[in-house]
Amino acid sequence: MSAFDRSLILAPSILSADFAILGQEVRDIAAAGADWIHLDVMDGHFVPNITFGPPVVAALRPHSDKPFDCHLMIEPIDPYLEAFAQAGADHITIQAEATRHLDRSLHAIRMLGKKAGVALNPATPPSAIEYVLDRLDLILVMTVNPGFGGQAFIAAMVEKVARVRRMIGDRPIHIEVDGGIAAETAPLVVGAGANVLVAGSAAFHGGRATYSGNLAALRGSVAAAGRAA
Ligand code: DX5
Ligand code: ZN
Repeated sequence: MSAFDRSLILAPSILSADFAILGQEVRDIAAAGADWIHLDVMDGHFVPNITFGPPVVAALRPHSDKPFDCHLMIEPIDPYLEAFAQAGADHITIQAEATRHLDRSLHAIRMLGKKAGVALNPATPPSAIEYVLDRLDLILVMTVNPGFGGQAFIAAMVEKVARVRRMIGDRPIHIEVDGGIAAETAPLVVGAGANVLVAGSAAFHGGRATYSGNLAALRGSVAAAGRAA
């Protein structure tokens, strides 16, 4: 049997934080119970929105020792991997659709000493990563189309998470979900096999006084569904 730890991990996305005080936001969400910090990097090319790049990741690094879970929604990818590694990313997740040589890009991430992740857009089937599983530490199933926070969860992705879970078998690979994750949807994806929840709006809504309650509500929704099952 695999000894891989599949306990629930909460990875709040700072896309929904106050960008004018990002360092403070990272400290506050970490203190509120975040396990990882999810950083959404967008280039206005692969996705129709622009966020931030390696200098911002580097500026945030001293604010927390939680793992920095960097989700790169950029194309091309390969020329930027080293910069994100040096900036302090712990996990580097790339979109399967944004690189022609996925196997090579994933290998490059591991060679930089980082955990390698691949993200699948809603329309991308799990078969796209069938032959790179041994290069992976994390599979991110996008539960919205990437680009913006606050979008509606795509219900068809629950079955996709289950399929990915079956596909990885005993391999030590995290299954992460991202987009529209809240107390109503979290139990569905965890029930299907996800163990890492990214949450933007659900984590950061209400301001800093609500962060620990927000994260507790997410965890509580999963625990309650587990008890009911
Ligand atoms: C979307 C990003 C997500 C986003 C999720 O492209 O990858 O991480 O912040 O936001 P919510 O949780 O608000 O759907
Ligand atoms: Zn993300």
